[in-house]
Amino acid sequence: MSTAPVALRRTLRSLEQLLGGFGTALLALGVLTWSLTLGWFTSRSTLGLVRGLADRERARLGRWGAEVVPPTVRPDRLREALRDPATRAELHWLARHAVAGSVVGFLAVLAPLSAVRDLTFPLWWWTLPDGWASPSLGLWVVQTWSGVPVVVALGLAWAALTAWGAPLAARRQLRVARRLLGEAPGDLTLRVAELTRTRAAALDAHAAELRRIERSLHDGAQNRIVAATVMIGAARRSLAGAPDRTEHLLGQAQDAAELALAELRAVVRSILPPVLADRGLEGALHGLAAASPVPCTTEVDVGVRCAAAVEATIYFVVAEALTNVARHSGAGRVDVVVRRRADDNVETVVRDDGKGGAHEGDGTGLAGIRQRVEAMDGRWSLSSPAGGPTELRVEVPCGS
Ligand SMILES: Nc1ncnc2c1ncn2[C@@H]1O[C@H](COP(=O)(O)OP(=O)(O)O)[C@@H](O)[C@H]1O
Ligand SMILES: [Mg+2]
Repeated sequence: MSTAPVALRRTLRSLEQLLGGFGTALLALGVLTWSLTLGWFTSRSTLGLVRGLADRERARLGRWGAEVVPPTVRPDRLREALRDPATRAELHWLARHAVAGSVVGFLAVLAPLSAVRDLTFPLWWWTLPDGWASPSLGLWVVQTWSGVPVVVALGLAWAALTAWGAPLAARRQLRVARRLLGEAPGDLTLRVAELTRTRAAALDAHAAELRRIERSLHDGAQNRIVAATVMIGAARRSLAGAPDRTEHLLGQAQDAAELALAELRAVVRSILPPVLADRGLEGALHGLAAASPVPCTTEVDVGVRCAAAVEATIYFVVAEALTNVARHSGAGRVDVVVRRRADDNVETVVRDDGKGGAHEGDGTGLAGIRQRVEAMDGRWSLSSPAGGPTELRVEVPCGS
């Protein structure tokens, strides 16, 4: 008894959904036609139209289930937008919904109206003038009562199509739209895994950096200071008897203390090079280039100041790359290019015309570069075929 009203309610609900979808589908058809023709010339506002419509559809989906959250990052430029997965999914939805949504929406109007019209046909067909009475779609003309049962049967078919097809079509439409306009869970999972990995790399890099500082303090400054205290102790003991020896020992102690000071300075500089604060990234890189034994050109075009850690990373990357060029490459020249790109990443390229064959596993320098860069959530690549040239490319978010 109760299944009929339930089925009716479900059908009506689905029809309501499909009619709402019909509305956005017609808009999508308009936007699609515009995008494929004149919209190319005003790509920015066309993108805005697509997004506006997608957001409207998200709101509609939200009324029929869980809220659909729009993407947080939306690139403005056409080229980046076309590479952005969320925008591509929106365009995919637009094309699909413009076609399928219109067809299904049209059927959602036609089928129930035809069902009502054909089922009630016996009640009114005889009132029409001769030759005017025909079933839905005007398929044929009914002249006598013998033709009426066929029309009623057609009405039943329309009703069956509505009751069976509408819920199916509505469910499918919602599912596809949710998949294309909702956030892509796959991408987020990958992103979380990537961030977890780089976070671990950041901690590793941090620990390695602490070890390096500890080692240089231990092997350098600490040893010199120990030597200085030993010599001062000896000098004290010899104070009474041998003034010449005391003088000599104190001189040595002073030398050791000065060396310790110089080494401390070097360690401090290696933690966050003060030249970065004094002269900015561009000045600091020019300084590195000027000190390079292999002739080095620099082209720095960053515009803003990036986060201190990012500038330090770029500085250390270039410093290590130039040291490698000088030590291993046999190159005649090396070019350093640092540029801020439209996506706010800073790209650093160090290219030499040397013999190539650089390989990460063969030392600690390149591995250190990779760790530093990954810790900044950046990317790096090294191309160094045997015979050269060698190109190190590093990309880190500016974080200005
Ligand atoms: N620009 C380069 N040209 C040729 N070979 C290179 C270059 N950079 C690095 N290499 C090679 O790759 C190896 C690894 O470099 P790196 O990790 O910096 O270690 P290290 O400099 O401590 O030897 C080097 O030992 C060297 O053989
Ligand atoms: Mg090296």
